[in-house]
Amino acid sequence: MNHIDYKIGLTFLLTLLTFPGHAADINAGKSKSAACMGCHGAEGVSNNSMWPNLAGQNAAYIAGQLKNFKSGQRDNATMKAIADGLSDADMQNLAAYFASLPGKSAGGDAALAQTGKDKAAMCMGCHGNKLQGNGQFPKLAGQHPKYLAKQLNDFKKGERKGGPMTAMAKTLSDDDIKALAEYMGAL
Ligand code: HEC
Ligand code: HEC
Repeated sequence: MNHIDYKIGLTFLLTLLTFPGHAADINAGKSKSAACMGCHGAEGVSNNSMWPNLAGQNAAYIAGQLKNFKSGQRDNATMKAIADGLSDADMQNLAAYFASLPGKSAGGDAALAQTGKDKAAMCMGCHGNKLQGNGQFPKLAGQHPKYLAKQLNDFKKGERKGGPMTAMAKTLSDDDIKALAEYMGAL
């Protein structure tokens, strides 16, 4: 095998590894997203503080959560009913579509956000320096504070299983959670 063949072969292999068995199709995701708009907003930016924004969220994280809703690992009746109707390919396509949309900051209480800023340093190792997320680590920047606070409380109570987040949330007081949620929402 000459050098060029080797390079092409390697690129192909990496493509397969990135999209296991299926290349995500943003347009197919967009068509499917009609079923999500009522709650998550027309362009993945929701008006309801308990319904998370999906615009600009990481594709790997979105697809992973849809799988978790379907399997019941993440327990939510509304999203379970929706995820039950989605194939693995639908999930990859929807994830690619929402990840491609520009995010919009939900905003947060400025005074509380200032307090939350100090606490956020310990989140950045996984969620990124700007809490922009990466792969399986969700983007937190700009998400609705009420939604974020609910998730942190769910992790703390063990109602949402999230690997490292269970232990992390147990170190946070109610006031920490409020301040962190406002800080993240304001980014
Ligand atoms: C009837 C309202 C409703 C509809 C329709 C809906 N969702 Fe949701 N979705 C929710 C709610 C509520 C949550 C938050 C659940 C919780 O509190 O854990 C959620 C959470 C999610 C999450 C997790 C986000 C995160 O940051 O962890 C993803 C991903 C998601 N929905 C994708 C979708 C997709 C894709 C569709 C369309 C195929 C859809 N949803 C349709 C209400 C809805
Ligand atoms: C060791 C890595 C790690 C650290 C440190 C960490 N997280 Fe997470 N976080 C994760 C992972 C992984 C998930 C996704 C869990 C899942 O799959 O459901 C997550 C999910 C979340 C979610 C749910 C987001 C959503 O859209 O539903 C919130 C909120 C969150 N983290 C907040 C924080 C805060 C606040 C801190 C700092 C106090 C923090 N995290 C520190 C790894 C981490």
